[in-house]
Order: sequence, then C-alpha cells, then structure tokens
Amino acid sequence: MQSHRFTLFIVFFLAILSHIQGQASSELQDRSFKLLSPFSVALETLQKQLDYTFNNIGLLRRAMTHASFSEENNRALSILGANVIETSVSLQLLGKDIEISSKDLNHQISEISKVETSCAVDGKRLGLQKVIRVSPRTNSSTPAVVCGAFRAIFGAIAIDTGKSDDAGNLFWTVHHGQVGHALEFISELSLIVNL
Ligand SMILES: *[C@@H]1O[C@H](CO)[C@@H](O)[C@H](O)[C@H]1NC(C)=O
Repeated sequence: MQSHRFTLFIVFFLAILSHIQGQASSELQDRSFKLLSPFSVALETLQKQLDYTFNNIGLLRRAMTHASFSEENNRALSILGANVIETSVSLQLLGKDIEISSKDLNHQISEISKVETSCAVDGKRLGLQKVIRVSPRTNSSTPAVVCGAFRAIFGAIAIDTGKSDDAGNLFWTVHHGQVGHALEFISELSLIVNL
C-alpha cells in the first residue's frame, strides 16, 4: 500500500514537472520570437540610426504604431512631438535673432511643420514608412502616416527623458539630414530574420 502510494506520488510529480518544463520552453520560444520579430529589429536599427537608446522601448513601439493598427497608438505622442519641434524651432530662431518678427517666426515654424514638404520628407529619409505598423488597408507611405510617426518619435523621446531638450536637439540633427539611410537595408534584414 505504501509503495503504491509512493509510485502514484512519483508519477504525479513527474507529470507536473514535465508540464512546467513544457511551459518554460514555450515561453522561451515566445520570447525569442519577439526579440527577433522584424518590428523589433526595425526598432533596434532605428535607435542606432537616431543614436538614441530608449530607457522604455515601449515608447518607441507606440510611436511606430498607427491608429489604424491598434488602440495603443502614436496619436498623442505625435501632438507632443509637434510641440517639441515648434518649441525647438522658436528657441533657435529667437536665440539667433531676438528681433525676429512674429510673422517671420510663424512662417518659419509652419514651413518646418509642413506635412508634405518637411515632416514627411524627414520621416521618409529615416525609412519610417517601413517601420510603422498600420492596418493592412492603410498605406504606410502616405505623408500623414509618415509625418505622424516622425513627430511621435520626438514626443516619445521627450517622455523617455522627462524633458524636451534632447528631443529638440535630435530633431535638428535629423532635419539637417545628418542621419538616415541605415533603414534602407531593413527589408533585407527582416528577410534574414524570417528565415
Ligand atoms: C501609398 O502612398 C504613396 C505616397 O502617397 C503613393 O506613392 C503610393 O502609390 C501609395 N500606394 C498604394 C498602394 O496606394
């Protein structure tokens, strides 16, 4: 009787053990899948390109997520980003010339904030149209989508650092074309990862 019970106990114990191991290995597979997903690879490349590493990568994930893809999206971050850019432009222009007229200042701000000619151009140079997650029916290359993602990056950095200085400085670096092009290789990279 005793040994029968002991055997039962062992069988039970082994069953639990194998169950736990099974769970652990499937979790591991999940995690390595997430690490190597094309989106994660693109976020890593984007950070390198910007020369900025997020403390909270979730902010960059969100910045690269269009409203058509998920409830958790970049809308609010892109509003903050637009404000960061405007503040940075105003600071720089007024710093150079305190006598600048309000008309000139407003004109320069609106030039740099233009979706078609400025914002989307900067965003495309970064290759954001290849990174941003959109619904299957949404064209990720339209200026509005690219521009929203571009602005959201600076909103995300401002939240990540708790201030707008670094985000504003990085905006100028990107706007002056000092970064870009690294993501041209992203489709090849994703291919390798998918294999
Ligand atoms: C997506 O948008 C871009 C930019 O507006 C355009 O050039 C391209 O033709 C569009 N693609 C599709 C499939 O509609």
